Amino acid sequence: MSAIIVIGAQWGDEGKGKVTDFLAEKSEVVVRSQGGNNAGHTVINGEEEYKLHLIPSGILNPKSLNLIGNGVVIDLAVILDEIDCLKRRGVSFEHFHISDRAHLIMPYHKILDTLEEQAKADGKIGTTGRGIGPAYVDKVNRVGIRVCDLMDEKEFRRKLQIVLEQKNTLLTKVYGADPLDMESMVAEFMVLAERVRPFVADTSVLLYDALKAGQNVLFEGAQATHLDIDHGTYPFVTSSNPIAGGALTGSGVGPTWVDKVIGVAKSYTTRVGNGPLPTELEDDMGEALRQKGHEFGTTTGRPRRCGWFDAVVVRYSVRVNGITDLALTKLDVLDGIEEIKLCVAYQCGDKILKEFPAALSEMEQCRPIYETMPGWMCDISSCRKFEDLPKEAQDYIARIEELTDAKISIVAVGPERTQTIIRSDF
Ligand code: GDP
Ligand code: IMO
Ligand code: MG
Repeated sequence: MSAIIVIGAQWGDEGKGKVTDFLAEKSEVVVRSQGGNNAGHTVINGEEEYKLHLIPSGILNPKSLNLIGNGVVIDLAVILDEIDCLKRRGVSFEHFHISDRAHLIMPYHKILDTLEEQAKADGKIGTTGRGIGPAYVDKVNRVGIRVCDLMDEKEFRRKLQIVLEQKNTLLTKVYGADPLDMESMVAEFMVLAERVRPFVADTSVLLYDALKAGQNVLFEGAQATHLDIDHGTYPFVTSSNPIAGGALTGSGVGPTWVDKVIGVAKSYTTRVGNGPLPTELEDDMGEALRQKGHEFGTTTGRPRRCGWFDAVVVRYSVRVNGITDLALTKLDVLDGIEEIKLCVAYQCGDKILKEFPAALSEMEQCRPIYETMPGWMCDISSCRKFEDLPKEAQDYIARIEELTDAKISIVAVGPERTQTIIRSDF
């Protein structure tokens, strides 16, 4: 039995989908525990490319059980559409379940996500506009609607009536928008309810049974540590807990089952949306990384901001997640760069900071302190063993291990499942 949590160690899009798909070959169960369709996980399997938003990346392994945990917020129309699209491509949903405790993203959440962003003169978060934040707000405010409520029309109506009254007041009186109609929403959701009903289950029980039976379980993180509502660059974060702890609360599994936490980090840094990015490169090098790494969002298509690898960021993630292993992805994107920079600390006025500060005002004054390493002037995309990598690439990996205090057990040298170097048993 092994229970492995896969999380993002930077600001998202590190290649969690690829790493999960790779590890899913040996896993009986794959579970998503937080976030929603703000996530975009790309999995390339031979000729086929899949862009998954809500469905776990283990779905391409026909034998594994794929679960959506209680911590995920679900846009029903989106998940059903994703299921239909994947089914048309021959993907099986025989072993797939959605938690009866997961919260729903309702139409007013999506409208409010956009209106709230528009209303912010400065400090727009740059959300994905999928209603994620407002859905989690309602969950914490105890007015959220859960999958189990949807299964019972009377209960759904009762809850919707209370919350819709509040939301319509907000929409009309504060934002001057149109109110939403209760009856048409009930009719729409009752149709969706019947389509989703066959998948609904108590997923915590399924996970417990699998773990008790000695099966391998993989927790697929979405977003990333520095987008975490508690540990990220608040307020430029998402509204869930993408750190390893969130995988447990979001799936109903206790910490004693977990064997490993794999932090996925890109060989450089990217961020989509607003907020601090200390090593951001707004020059030709930044553009070169964006083009070579195809750094455009999987969900919104926005160009990702690019910069050098920031060891302060990843070391922080090693600490707050209890990372046992790092997966370093996209090393091939650095091919042919003569000199590669690594941020080792920040200069903040006359202080040198080795930890990411909490206050954004302090962060804004931080300038990265770089170390420079020689690059490798060859193509590494066909390397399959650590020893096949040029010495400069091996040294870069070793230096990141030193700076982040974690061992790099997986190195990805291309988007394909096979373009992976494994240095440890999983
Ligand atoms: P996720 O959100 O963490 O799952 O990452 P995304 O799928 O949003 O973005 C990662 C992108 O990098 C995807 O297009 C992957 O196909 C691609 N990718 C993953 N690993 C590698 C790698 O080692 N090399 C290259 N060149 N691309 C990679
Ligand atoms: P994956 O799982 C990168 C960012 C958004 C925005 C902030 C808040 O593919 O790594 P939200 O819509 O969540 O309220 O937006 O978080 N964001 C992501 N950035 N990858 C993601 O997911 C993201 N999910 C949200 O761009 O800055
Ligand atoms: Mg992504």
